[in-house]
Amino acid sequence: MNIILIGPPGAGKGTQAATLVKDRNMIQLSTGDMLRAARTSGTELGKMVAGVMDRGELVTDEIVIGLIEEQLTSSTESTGFIFDGFPRTLAQADALSNLLSKVDQKLDTVIQMTVDDEALVRRITGRFTCGVCGQGYHEDFKAPIIKGKCDNCGEVGAFKKRADDNEDALKTRLMAYYKDTSPLIGYYYAKQQLQQINGLNSIDEVGRDISEAISSI
Ligand code: AP5
Repeated sequence: MNIILIGPPGAGKGTQAATLVKDRNMIQLSTGDMLRAARTSGTELGKMVAGVMDRGELVTDEIVIGLIEEQLTSSTESTGFIFDGFPRTLAQADALSNLLSKVDQKLDTVIQMTVDDEALVRRITGRFTCGVCGQGYHEDFKAPIIKGKCDNCGEVGAFKKRADDNEDALKTRLMAYYKDTSPLIGYYYAKQQLQQINGLNSIDEVGRDISEAISSI
């Protein structure tokens, strides 16, 4: 089963994708994570996209389509892909459809996670991750059990925040979502592949709703 999680920055795509990976053994393909990994390892690609990402603008279609193509053609068998943060433009959606056909796969459903802007700001400004294992947290909604210590890997004092999780970059990211990504809602609705989830519910409730949506296919 191959699914897309679509929603504005902070909608909870990464949080829910991590649960699906754990519970259903699916492969998460997050273009945001791939680009951040390229930056951390200091590749030419990483250097090229750093400024664009920090400002909250979209990286070119060509770059992200190339990243997804590489993953789709090299991944071994799994119970399916979760596309997290991809596609983000109509050109990326068309490219994904072609790439899936090329590897004899199809898209099963698109889950739209709706969250209002006020909640997004709170989620983004309170977000942090473990710098060692990447586990995601939130100051109010998903705090570590012991302050300063990662629940997942046990590392102490390694929490970090994303460079684009500030008010200016978030404004640009939201604009990019409404201008370039939201047309995909109509695109997938017309293809009868869209399901909508209330992303304002708690993390567990959203997880249950996504699970139900997937089971209904
Ligand atoms: P990317 O990494 O994809 O960022 P994003 O889309 O802005 O999404 P986020 O990762 O910020 O949010 P999320 O929905 O995953 O929320 P999360 O689960 O963390 O992209 C970053 C940049 O890379 C882009 O700006 C662009 O430059 C570039 N890029 C990436 N893909 C691209 C593409 N395809 N084309 C062009 N450029 C691309 O949750 C947020 C917080 O809220 C967490 O703290 C979490 O604990 C908490 N939370 C989650 N769910 C809930 C809930 N239900 N209730 C309460 N709190 C919750």
